[in-house]
Amino acid sequence: MKRIAIFASGSGSNAEQIVKHFNKTGTARVEAIYTNNPKAFVIQRANNLKIPAIVFDREKFYSGDYILRDLLSRKIDLIVLAGFLWLVPGNLNRAFPRKIVNIHPALLPKYGGKGMYGMAVHEAVVDAGETESGITIHLIDDVYDRGEILLQAKCPVLPDDTPESLAERIHQLEYEHYPKTIEKLLGHK
Ligand code: GAR
Repeated sequence: MKRIAIFASGSGSNAEQIVKHFNKTGTARVEAIYTNNPKAFVIQRANNLKIPAIVFDREKFYSGDYILRDLLSRKIDLIVLAGFLWLVPGNLNRAFPRKIVNIHPALLPKYGGKGMYGMAVHEAVVDAGETESGITIHLIDDVYDRGEILLQAKCPVLPDDTPESLAERIHQLEYEHYPKTIEKLLGHK
C-alpha cells in the first residue's frame, strides 16, 4: 500500500476528495495532511476524516529537517500539493525526486508564478477576457509552477463568469482529474 502526504494551505476541498478517493479504492492511503496555516479549514476536514493534521511554521519548513524527518517516519511515497502556498525547499525536492506533484488552477505556463494562487488566478483569467481556462497537474522543481506537466484539462470561460463561478468549474475539473492522476503516478493505472 502506497503512502501519501498532502500539503494544503486553505480550504482543502481537493485534499478531502483525494482522501475519499483512496479510502474507496484502497490502492493507497493518505497518512497525514500538512499545513502552514493554523487557521486553515483543511485542519477541520482532516479531523473529520480521521487523518493526522500537522501544522508547521516558516522556521520548521525552511530550516533544518523537521518536516523531512516526519515524512520519512511515516514512510511517505508521494507528496501531493493541494492548494499549498509555499515553495517547497530543496531538501524535500532532493529526498522525493519526481515524487512531489502539484495542481494549478490554470493552463500553465499562463497565469502561473509567485502570487498566482487560488482566486488571484481566476481573477486574472476573467480580467484578461480569456475564453478558456483549465487545470495543470505537474511535478514540481525549484521554481514556482514549473516542472514536467502530467495532465492539462480545459473548460470554457463564459462571458458572464465571475472569478467565483470560474473557480467552481475549475474545482470540478480538479476533483475529476487529480485523484486519477495521482493513481497513475503511483503506478496503479
Ligand atoms: C485549487 O484550485 C488549487 O488548484 C489551487 O488552490 C485551490 C485550493 O483549493 N492551487 C494553486 O493555486 C497553486 N498555485 P482547495 O483548498 O479547496 O483544494
